[in-house]
Amino acid sequence: MAETGSNFPCNNEEAFDRIADALKTTGYIILADCIPFALCEALREQSVLGADELKRAGVGRGQAYNLDGLIRTDGIRWLCPDSPAEIAFLAWMELLRLGLNRRLFLGLFDYESHFAVYDTGAFYRKHLDAFQGLPNRVLSTVCYLNPYWMPDDCGELLIYSPHDDTLMETVSPDLATMVIFLSAVFPHEVAVTHRKRYSIAGWFRGRE
Ligand code: OGA
Ligand code: MN
Repeated sequence: MAETGSNFPCNNEEAFDRIADALKTTGYIILADCIPFALCEALREQSVLGADELKRAGVGRGQAYNLDGLIRTDGIRWLCPDSPAEIAFLAWMELLRLGLNRRLFLGLFDYESHFAVYDTGAFYRKHLDAFQGLPNRVLSTVCYLNPYWMPDDCGELLIYSPHDDTLMETVSPDLATMVIFLSAVFPHEVAVTHRKRYSIAGWFRGRE
């Protein structure tokens, strides 16, 4: 497989500096063109191959877990290191975890991630990624795997201000774009998509 090695745009010390600085100052960063296209293609293939395994995503944990079609309607499959693309992606996230720990002392100790496929008409209403009373999700990452996304395709990630809930960012789910933000701080949502939408959502977790 082409270019799944460690040498790509956001996988180096300069990029980790930039990401750490942004997290310290604004709490989030939007990185365009940060994953090699070949890796994006291979990852999207993995989520399509796993289509039979895609599960309706749930909301909450334990007793609070439910399949609530009014909150989110995407399908998910958890990543695991069983394909070269997933191995490359998870190896990169591991370097990012170590790089951010060295810079920010966040005590990130692991990373969980899933492919998400939103069919036409799917959405994810406004939410926070860190569960109440379980502040173990510290940083959220979302990587987009959609070539030639057009404005009419909608399905943007909308990020809101933690202070007054005003809309701060509208992110098109373009191929190779990655967003990183503090999980307990930024309410966000996925607008109704007008085209099938592929992504990987992931979370660096801290010790409880
Ligand atoms: C999530 C999420 C955002 C996106 O899965 O928790 O907010 O743009 N995803 O896919
Ligand atoms: Mn989220």
